[in-house]
Amino acid sequence: MTTSIGSDCLLEVQDLHVEFPTRDGVVKAVDGVDFSIKHNQTVGVVGESGSGKTVTALAILQVVSQPGKISGGRVLLRQESGNAVDIASLNPRGKAIRAIRGKDISMIFQEPMTSFSMMHTIGFQIVEAIRLHQNIGNHEARSIAIDMLRRVGIARPEERVDAYAFELSGGMRQRAMIAMALVTHPRLLIADEPTTALDVTLQAQIMELIRELQRELGMSVLLITHDLGVIAENCDEVIVMYLGEVMERAGVQHLFADPLHPYTRALLRSIPRLGHGKEWELEPIEGMVPSPYNRPTGCPFHPRCPAFIPGKCDTLRPELVEVGDGRAVRCHLYSL
Ligand SMILES: Nc1ncnc2c1ncn2[C@@H]1O[C@H](COP(=O)(O)OP(=O)(O)OP(=O)(O)O)[C@@H](O)[C@H]1O
Ligand SMILES: [Mg+2]
Repeated sequence: MTTSIGSDCLLEVQDLHVEFPTRDGVVKAVDGVDFSIKHNQTVGVVGESGSGKTVTALAILQVVSQPGKISGGRVLLRQESGNAVDIASLNPRGKAIRAIRGKDISMIFQEPMTSFSMMHTIGFQIVEAIRLHQNIGNHEARSIAIDMLRRVGIARPEERVDAYAFELSGGMRQRAMIAMALVTHPRLLIADEPTTALDVTLQAQIMELIRELQRELGMSVLLITHDLGVIAENCDEVIVMYLGEVMERAGVQHLFADPLHPYTRALLRSIPRLGHGKEWELEPIEGMVPSPYNRPTGCPFHPRCPAFIPGKCDTLRPELVEVGDGRAVRCHLYSL
């Protein structure tokens, strides 16, 4: 199958749908998501809890948990050969996707326990990840693993390399997972709340390490975080998600200086008080996120939107429209 991907893009997600059939109905966790990541670029994803950020990331690696499944769309990856492959069409347990995981795309998971097996030491698993994609010996792989554990801030890595994941504290486990994701030098790193469990100093150190590897290796990054400071400092572009949809997409400076969507504005309300620690966190928005079983008709944000236009926003689903400066917004205020 021929697949077309933008010439400067590493990854292009096109009209992606992911569903979870459950006893209470179908959860449309990702409902028509479009975005792309260029070579070397860092794209941030923000949105309230339940907006589909993690599921989008899992779909890119074909690791959505059962009974969830990709029910539509494409995830085009430009391979080193220059050809594009549609990850969404690959068998989740097949050889092709296993060759991509770790080598082309690595992920730092929101929940660190999920990425390590309890049967083997972290060192064993990191060495396996290295040797799966590189033709090097055990001894050399072990010293690469130890070096990476040191770079993510693990003291005495020569000893810790032989620890099991359950023997490590939460923060330490997070660091070990970051080491495992980075050690294979992926072309795309997906980082889902990579630094949430870590203290501020270590957070900064990890983000600096990611930027450093990005410079060294030309890596692209998809960065999911609630921390607007991390977004502002690290991202080129930002995607704002709500109930499985992209509500707005913009360059980071545009987004912060002039958020267009009422949802983005609500999310960024804390901006004027920005500058220090916790104040960068997303503020809660008035009203509840609707139940995933009960999606509002029209624009999913309309029941909470201060700019709600009756008869329009509650009946017509807005399209994601380009509005110049490489920006796009899904809102009837901009699609007149
Ligand atoms: N295994 C599952 N079974 C059923 N529904 C699921 C499953 N995993 C995720 N979902 C649903 O998919 C939707 C999106 O979830 P997702 O984890 O992607 O949100 P998120 O944006 O990452 O949130 P957070 O900020 O809390 O991490 C939610 O409604 C969630 O309940
Ligand atoms: Mg999540």
